[in-house]
Amino acid sequence: MQNVLARRKKTVREIDVRDKRVLVRADFNVPLDKDGGIADDTRIRASLPTIRYLCERDARVILCSHLGRPQGRVVERLRLVLVANRLSALLDRPVVALRDCVGPEVESAVAAMSDGDIVLLENLRFHPEEKKDDPAFAEELASLAEIYVNDAFGASHRAHASVVGVPKHLPAVAGLLLEKEIGTFTRVLQAPERPFAAVIGGAKVSDKLEVLENTISRVDALIIGGGMAATFLASQGYGTGTSYVETDSLDAVRKIAETAMRRGVRLLLPRDVVVTERLEAGVPTRVVSATEIPDGQIIADIGPGAADDFSQELERARTVVWNGPMGVFEIPEFAEGTRRVAAALANLRGTTVIGGGSTTDAVVRFGLDGQMTHVSTGGGAALTMLAGKPLPGVAALDDAGTP
Ligand code: 3PG
Repeated sequence: MQNVLARRKKTVREIDVRDKRVLVRADFNVPLDKDGGIADDTRIRASLPTIRYLCERDARVILCSHLGRPQGRVVERLRLVLVANRLSALLDRPVVALRDCVGPEVESAVAAMSDGDIVLLENLRFHPEEKKDDPAFAEELASLAEIYVNDAFGASHRAHASVVGVPKHLPAVAGLLLEKEIGTFTRVLQAPERPFAAVIGGAKVSDKLEVLENTISRVDALIIGGGMAATFLASQGYGTGTSYVETDSLDAVRKIAETAMRRGVRLLLPRDVVVTERLEAGVPTRVVSATEIPDGQIIADIGPGAADDFSQELERARTVVWNGPMGVFEIPEFAEGTRRVAAALANLRGTTVIGGGSTTDAVVRFGLDGQMTHVSTGGGAALTMLAGKPLPGVAALDDAGTP
């Protein structure tokens, strides 16, 4: 496998930030509720150690991030002022939200900063140049600062201007969150305490093929749940009712099962599943054998027998990586399988890594995030790491040891 972090990167602890203007790329892409408030501030909280570190050393902290997908224009509800307010409350110090991320007003505001001050630039994606990695835009952003810190693990799979363009112009180092995320994934993938199990779920197997192909050669057990189990079951010739089967992925899934067999990896598919006519709250459900799914029924969750099997397998593990829920956990009737797996991980004596996205949402919803070794702030970035692929935002940083 490719080394996810082929070279060790320089971190913010290895550079003198005192009295310097430091541009910090954070991932403040937080979920918003229907009233436009912050629905979950996990990503904001995760950025606090780096910000505090910089303030304690009298750096002038210039934060930047994207929020949502505004398609290169100003979208009022995606302004970052609400993030600045939350940050200010969490840090108990002022965080000034600027109305743009580049331009003369931003330049003057930055020039007026004192040591220890914090400003937050406006949503980078209000400018189409951000996603295009436009060189002039990257240079303009870089001109605001003397040092660049990438602490946006969740955005480091994006080759955008603030992620890969800016580091071409400044000394560029990893923030404390980025360091922790990369260090955790690298350690569990390269030197896990064994037995090592991966739990992979979610709706679509095609989103996870590279993750499955990478992890199958590293784990002792691979546990499959979620809607994607249907494609595994179909690849073995079983009927799956109206569940979504990705016919294009059947061969790839068969190869994964063959690799598991060849390498002596225990491949666990659900022995029973919760099925229903429609994935909606309040509809009748029943538990059936995974090999006898009736016509007209769709898989909504793993069944209790599968949850027992998975829990038993996980009890033995000393390292577990989990990405993808076991069912449609957002609907209470279909949340039990995901909750059982989360509980098994919470009780595990070993390393548990929650691989971001909806798996992180689920663990937070069950109130079990505090009982995991690491709950990733990345969605696509975590998948990229689990697939063993490099992150452009990490590759762009200075190597450790560079002066
Ligand atoms: C995420 O939420 O995974 C990151 O913030 C990246 O967002 P994006 O998928 O809109 O690039």
